[in-house]
Amino acid sequence: MNPKLTVFPTTAEINHQGHLVLGGVDTIELAGRYGTPLYVFDEATLRSRCRNFQRVFTERYSDTAVTYASKAFLHSALAAILSEEGMGLDIVSAGELHIAESGGFPPERMYYHGNNKSADELRLALERRVGHIVVDNRDELELLAGLAEECGYTPKVLLRITPGVDAHTHGHLTTGAVGSKFGIPLEQAGEVIARALALTSLDLVGLHFHIGSMISEYQPYLDAIDAALELAAEAAQKYGFILVELDIGGGFGVQYTIDNPMPAIDCFADHIATHLIERCKDLFLPPPQLVIEPGRAIVAQAGVALYRVGTIKDVTGHRYVAVDGGMADNIRPALYDARYEILSAGKANAPETEQVAIAGRYCETGDIIIKQALVPPLVTGDVVAIPVCGAYCLPMASNYNAALKPAIVMVANGESRLIRRRETLEDLTRGDTV
Ligand code: LLP
Repeated sequence: MNPKLTVFPTTAEINHQGHLVLGGVDTIELAGRYGTPLYVFDEATLRSRCRNFQRVFTERYSDTAVTYASKAFLHSALAAILSEEGMGLDIVSAGELHIAESGGFPPERMYYHGNNKSADELRLALERRVGHIVVDNRDELELLAGLAEECGYTPKVLLRITPGVDAHTHGHLTTGAVGSKFGIPLEQAGEVIARALALTSLDLVGLHFHIGSMISEYQPYLDAIDAALELAAEAAQKYGFILVELDIGGGFGVQYTIDNPMPAIDCFADHIATHLIERCKDLFLPPPQLVIEPGRAIVAQAGVALYRVGTIKDVTGHRYVAVDGGMADNIRPALYDARYEILSAGKANAPETEQVAIAGRYCETGDIIIKQALVPPLVTGDVVAIPVCGAYCLPMASNYNAALKPAIVMVANGESRLIRRRETLEDLTRGDTV
């Protein structure tokens, strides 16, 4: 077996023709039928990731709510699956609320995040009866209290705190350190809790933090839990605050390349559950409901990007293999130096004897998807598959160079269905007025 298959969806296999198969569907056929670039999502992997998170956490801490962070990827078909799987949903905009609702996701299971929600967005969330609003700052608290009063609906509120913890991840992906733009600094949090308790149009039920993304260590979560519980214990004494819910955010690291494995979710869950139970005892706090918000860890490995090879060029020190996508559909290599594997979808068992750079087609020197990729000899027209593209590729996609955003298919049990058509040239000018 090609070891790269370990980072592909759980249904990935190689058929007798040497083609990569996902969800029982030959990827060469998918590329032919729907065109490339094509994003393929494996329904079985999506569902098993949801179930695994729920099982692993509830086995160790029974009162856990698993809430998917939809910024990682959202589509109405995915919202429907998440709803069936009993997940909660993090949203950060009226747009995400709209997509989730169009998939039939119940608003009462949504958590509305964001550091600068507009009054219109908050009003919409209240009208739709979004279950939880995660308040980021004092201004938002006052604004929301006024709107909730007007609307006659009392939302459950979590206050986002900045626990002052470095999650040891990429600088762009750390969100819980002192000085972050997200959340309420610890030294101000007591006062904000007191104010929230005094606002009768809001129901303050707990605290939230999110310390970053692609986190590979459990210790930062434990440090942040300590900060939140100590704050809660102090606020309990001073203001009678009861911590009913503790939302510890997402950020669980995902394996993108075979040389960079990540701890299993079980490992995070073991340490988080044990620590939370112990620290609550120490501080005489009743154990709160635990809310976790994985985004990447649910969808990343469920998604595969298929590209077709175009020009191949040898320059000093490099062979560039250019494909028909790149930074317009996956900005992550350019933005975070993210690394990926690649597999020749039609020659998945062939010896990988060449080292090449996989270049995107867009007009930026930084548009290199993989700097050093190990591949079998590739020729123009070959289809290549990049795994772990389910998270933060499509939601961050752009129309740079007037690129058409890719089509998306869902595969399951040997069938594929188009869940988003490829953009057309007309889409590019649809909103224009001359
Ligand atoms: N909760 C909150 C409040 C968040 O801001 C995020 C992600 C999550 C949960 C989910 O984090 P995850 O489990 O997916 O790591 N564009 C970047 C990732 C940005 C993450 C933003 N916040 C990337 O492509 O790596």
